[in-house]
Amino acid sequence: MTPRKILVTSALPYANGPIHLGHLVEYVQTDIWARFQRMRGHDCYYICADDAHGTPIMLRAQQEGISPQQLIDAMTIEHQADFAALDIHFDNYHSTHSDENRQLAESIYLAAKAKGHIDSRTIQQAYDEEAGMFLPDRFIRGECPKCGADDQYGDNCEACGATYETTELVNAQSVVSGATPVSKETEHLFFKVNDFKESIETYLNSGAVQKEVANKISEWFDEDLKAWDISRDEPYWGFKIPETEDKYFYVWLDAPIGYLASFKNFCAKSGIDFDEFWKPDSTAEVHHFIGKDIAYFHTLFWPALLTAADLRLPTGIYCHGFLTIDSKKMSKSRGTFIQAKSYSKHLDASPLRYYYAAKLSHSADDIDLNFADFTQRVNSDLVGKVVNIASRCAGFIKKRFNNRLTAELADPVLQQNFADKAEAIAEYYESRRYGHAIREIMGLADLANQYIDEKKPWLLAKDPDQSEATHAVCSQGINFYKIIITYLKPVIPAIATQSEVFLNTGDLNWSSVSSPLLDHQVNTFKPLIKRIESTSIDNILADNKQVAKPAKAKAVQKKKVKPLKDNENNIINFDDFAKVDLRIAKIIKAEQVEGADKLLQLTVDLGEMGERNIFAGIKSAYEPSALEGKLTIVVANLAARKMRFGLSEGMVLAAGDGNDLYLMSPDEGAKPGMKIS
Ligand code: MSP
Ligand code: ZN
Repeated sequence: MTPRKILVTSALPYANGPIHLGHLVEYVQTDIWARFQRMRGHDCYYICADDAHGTPIMLRAQQEGISPQQLIDAMTIEHQADFAALDIHFDNYHSTHSDENRQLAESIYLAAKAKGHIDSRTIQQAYDEEAGMFLPDRFIRGECPKCGADDQYGDNCEACGATYETTELVNAQSVVSGATPVSKETEHLFFKVNDFKESIETYLNSGAVQKEVANKISEWFDEDLKAWDISRDEPYWGFKIPETEDKYFYVWLDAPIGYLASFKNFCAKSGIDFDEFWKPDSTAEVHHFIGKDIAYFHTLFWPALLTAADLRLPTGIYCHGFLTIDSKKMSKSRGTFIQAKSYSKHLDASPLRYYYAAKLSHSADDIDLNFADFTQRVNSDLVGKVVNIASRCAGFIKKRFNNRLTAELADPVLQQNFADKAEAIAEYYESRRYGHAIREIMGLADLANQYIDEKKPWLLAKDPDQSEATHAVCSQGINFYKIIITYLKPVIPAIATQSEVFLNTGDLNWSSVSSPLLDHQVNTFKPLIKRIESTSIDNILADNKQVAKPAKAKAVQKKKVKPLKDNENNIINFDDFAKVDLRIAKIIKAEQVEGADKLLQLTVDLGEMGERNIFAGIKSAYEPSALEGKLTIVVANLAARKMRFGLSEGMVLAAGDGNDLYLMSPDEGAKPGMKIS
């Protein structure tokens, strides 16, 4: 067999947020596939990178008072640690903010341009005059024109589900500065996707994309495909577009090119031939694993871009569904955006990998995580069935037979039945029907346990005449275990590695299943997995509550932060500062605000300036009752803001590091109304 040459990718996670259990569906799915291919003897490279560009990353860095480079440098370390803790092994992990990506993005763009696939056109876009920047839809918030809900995104309402134009939002505000956006003209560059309409349609129906996804995307083909807006104006965190003064590539232009960039970076280090994978008639394979939310970018724009640049098209683009928790969308307010690190702090990778594998299929259906079901399933399958086979036999083999297995199998027919499943199980992995693979493997585990139940080595061991039978049954049991753990190795690599030590076999690969361990010395068995206790789940959830808190505080702070007009420093002169009237205030009343998940309503006493009503985004950090009577600092001359809940007549000051939020309070002796200077 000549090994296949396979490049496999997962979507590049955004560098502005942590990895959560939803993301992990994809990285676990891809990692299992890559490990499976390697076990089959193929040359398989699993490549990924952080998606490091775009407005959200630029603004988040500003909000934290660091440069975008600092943010993405810190984020990639965090992401890679999260992935490693889940046993996700990348052959290369790079960044879209890299030299390779800049060069590739430029050359692909220039190739498309040279062939006439780039247009330029003047458009109207929402602009924040105060911040001096154009605003993407999600950076505009206001009241829903349909139901009046406050604080809704620029293009759709989370309360009633309505979609609308940004211009229809009532009392629209820039999330960046709070200013009312105006409409402003700007010239943008467009990639004429329609030039590739026919070839994309052929590609979509070639089997490279799941039918359900191809059908959905095909709905766009009834009409001409709209040209894709690929430029953004300054200030923008990304790559400058060649032959322009002040235009940047939209993050989604250079994001998929990041697959190429990371692979190129890997090729340079490992001596692999990049072009052999990406030339138009390449016989190597390229497989992209993605979530269904980004199918549009990958199945329309990406093939078009590759075609424009005379590069090959992907062998396959596979969409998975979304992770729900207890059958509900992951949600910040329910605390179900469970971060990878909250999980890893309390549990090993194998349980989650196993659970996802058992639930994953080749379809884009959502998969649900229910912690009770997760606990039950892992305990019953991995602990109770799989590892149990080894632990039931290993004790006797050690005590009675010095860790040596018999020279012959007790049941060669059954052993052969186990080994004969190799191709069927391989086909399930290959076609991403992991749930089917797991069912098949658990069927074998049931058979192995039945075998041991019937032979009852614990009874045989008591009878001195049955020493040989004890040896034979336990050696057979361990040989069943070897096959089962080999089949499970792509899913639970850590347990497989420990099992390789126990079995004393070296690296198990797919062909290992047809060579039983005969007259073979094993090592002393050590426990391979612990039962999951409910306290671990409680700890994960409690831990996540801690780390998830700042997201709320941040969302509120975001509105107060102004971006820097020049990206270098944030200097204001004294006159600017002197305009801010800061006063000591006493909180006389603090209450929950019905329908608001971040706000508390405060009544504050400003001494001679009277009382004020202030809505403050500090609910995540404070119980209202704990605030009453406290002194704090208020911006007293902030223009009043009408909110859905009432008028907010000032702002309280709080400090945060992104993890926690602390209200400012004066030193002892300060009185309400005192001016701060
Ligand atoms: N940066 C883009 C991808 C660029 S690829 C050239 C992006 N990043 S992401 O961080 O938002 O998501 C990364 C991957 O995780 C996507 O494929 C996305 O579908 C997947 N998931 C994010 N949340 C998810 C769930 N709740 N469930 C399953 N997958 C999820 O999109
Ligand atoms: Zn609405």
